[in-house]
Amino acid sequence: MNAVAQADERQRLALRRPDLLREAGFVDGTWLETSERFEVSNPATGGVLARAARLGAAEADAAVAAAHAAFPAWSAQPAKARADILKDWRRLILEHAEDLARLMTAEQGKPLSEARGEVAYAAAFVEWFAEEARRVYGVTIPGHLADKRIVVTHEPVGVVAAITPWNFPAAMITRKVGPALAVGCTVVLKPSELTPLSALALAVLAEEAGLPAGVLNIVMGDAPAIGEVLTTDPRVRKFTFTGSTPVGKMLAARCAATVKRVSLELGGNAPFLVFDDADLDKAVAGAIASKFRNTGQTCVCANRFYVQAGIYDAFAARLAEAVAELRIGDGLEGPTDQGPLIDDRARGKVAAHVADALRDGARVLTGGAPAEGAGAFYQPTVLADVARDALLCREETFGPVAGLVRFETEQEAVALANATSAGLAAYVFTRDNSRVWRVGGALQYGMVGINTGLISTEVAPFGGVKESGLGREGSLFGVRDYVDTKTLCLEVEPV
Ligand code: SIN
Repeated sequence: MNAVAQADERQRLALRRPDLLREAGFVDGTWLETSERFEVSNPATGGVLARAARLGAAEADAAVAAAHAAFPAWSAQPAKARADILKDWRRLILEHAEDLARLMTAEQGKPLSEARGEVAYAAAFVEWFAEEARRVYGVTIPGHLADKRIVVTHEPVGVVAAITPWNFPAAMITRKVGPALAVGCTVVLKPSELTPLSALALAVLAEEAGLPAGVLNIVMGDAPAIGEVLTTDPRVRKFTFTGSTPVGKMLAARCAATVKRVSLELGGNAPFLVFDDADLDKAVAGAIASKFRNTGQTCVCANRFYVQAGIYDAFAARLAEAVAELRIGDGLEGPTDQGPLIDDRARGKVAAHVADALRDGARVLTGGAPAEGAGAFYQPTVLADVARDALLCREETFGPVAGLVRFETEQEAVALANATSAGLAAYVFTRDNSRVWRVGGALQYGMVGINTGLISTEVAPFGGVKESGLGREGSLFGVRDYVDTKTLCLEVEPV
């Protein structure tokens, strides 16, 4: 891709504030350049959007030093002062929502309507945690002896290192950085090298909101070198990661040597259960929302569809009809429902899962092949009669393919749903209230959507069980991962 194409990509962005597009890292309140660069491309066109500074271990070390130096003053501020800055940050995010959404669509590929939704979602985390900042209450506990008083407080853990993914280039940042800053931590953030532009634009706005130098630092480029610093430096007291399960396990193991607090939001393999008594319209709408959001590239996307025999044919036909209507395309060029996959490797995995299912007797109801376009587009796909041990059921596909498996009994469906090492999200569609409670309780998942395919919100805890992760993000629980609990045990003189 040549310089002219880069100019074209920039022009298509049509930013109202072109200065939101940054290519430098952000350390100690300074935009940090290097001569080494890496390319950030638009996955819909292959065109180069930016050549970002390729930072490494030295810059990560400087970022940790800056965050460490900024911690005493930031954590000493009254909660309200921190909350006021966060509220200003949120206001600026919303004021520049259209620019942020266009940048996001360009670097990540999601439809513009979804990018707008993600900007609002990202801002909602900032607002929520600005509100929570002032409610980090402690407790007093009746003393165990007559002359003892016990007071429990929650204190910021210190420097937080956050590594965030490409599938939600803004919201996964504010879901971590929001609570960290709110309670008084300082942060070193490494966004995905595939989508650093949203992160850097958020930093421009955070600086404008009055965030002091060193409180939020951003480094990207040489991911292994930066990751090594963030997981081993003893000044980092908390490590938080959203990404794949194998990488999460490896990073968590490295954090063990300095006993960091660790939060992990890892892969899922979400089952989507449709019972005979389900509302068919709701089940189809839920399947579209859950499976095809972000072109199937969310950790909570439905991955395996278990459909009871009595409703199977009707559900399959209706879902295929709805999926066939999804519009594929470059989100900057008009209304779309599905963007490209993030890259060719991702499309290759989707194609391999489809081929595997077809080899074992699955039938294509719609889609089933790559789609035209310069980017890694794949047709939104529905497959019927997928084998229970197909790759589609065993591994996270992370793409726009719904594979349907037939079941007969509730017990069978729950057993199939739980037969995985993942435990992030599950979905159940039924009108039977007893079944809601029975199946909702039996599913070994951190989140269960009941008669809905959309479960993500800043007000509810987000996170998984089993190998899907540790800790919770969002909600009142999202604060807990960023504070240490301290006991003050006082001896008092008798009256
Ligand atoms: C994720 O895919 O990791 C996040 C999805 C969400 O917040 O809904």
